[in-house]
Amino acid sequence: MNIKGFDSVIVGDEKFKLLFSEEQIQKRTEELAKQISDEYKNRVPVFIGVLNGSFLFMSDLIRYVTIDCEIDFFKLSSYGDAKISSGRVKLLKELNCDVNGRDIIIVEDIVDTGLSVKYIEKLFKKHQPKSMRVVSLLVKQDSLKYDLKIDYIGFNIPSKFVIGYGLDYGQKYRNLRSIYILNEIGD
Ligand code: IMP
Ligand code: MG
Repeated sequence: MNIKGFDSVIVGDEKFKLLFSEEQIQKRTEELAKQISDEYKNRVPVFIGVLNGSFLFMSDLIRYVTIDCEIDFFKLSSYGDAKISSGRVKLLKELNCDVNGRDIIIVEDIVDTGLSVKYIEKLFKKHQPKSMRVVSLLVKQDSLKYDLKIDYIGFNIPSKFVIGYGLDYGQKYRNLRSIYILNEIGD
């Protein structure tokens, strides 16, 4: 399954087709890291990854970052095991580091309705960081239900379910190197 060059993935009777290849993801991630490194010169930002989805993007992103930085993770759950958001967010793992007075960059795999990012922003504002920005590899602009500023966007994508490169379907397929999008009837 996890073979470079695969252009589709079949899950039961659903077909996902290739959306972004490993090379495209790496190239865009490097561009984002360069921009962040330029804009945070002489600062030491804390990259805060939202588990589980962002773990691969986080690890690639910070390896392209050329300034000193720190990392931490926390865990949210909003999707359960299905394709549809539950509309609720639960905090499953708290941060270990103190973000007070720090420049923090929230690292998301994907922003769909924006509920998670909205929740995170509220949570962190209480801890009074010096600054807070958000980087997301993917954004479903047409699904956004909250007024949000995503400061760094990898790719804007259609409002369809995607898997791979950290993104799951029923907790599986996170290990795919590329990103695949659900091929709906009529596509
Ligand atoms: P939001 O709170 O609606 O913006 O959803 C954000 C979270 O839902 C993401 O961090 C993902 O974990 C998950 N999610 C949203 N869309 C997808 C998708 O297409 N595939 C897999 N997970 C998704
Ligand atoms: Mg996520």
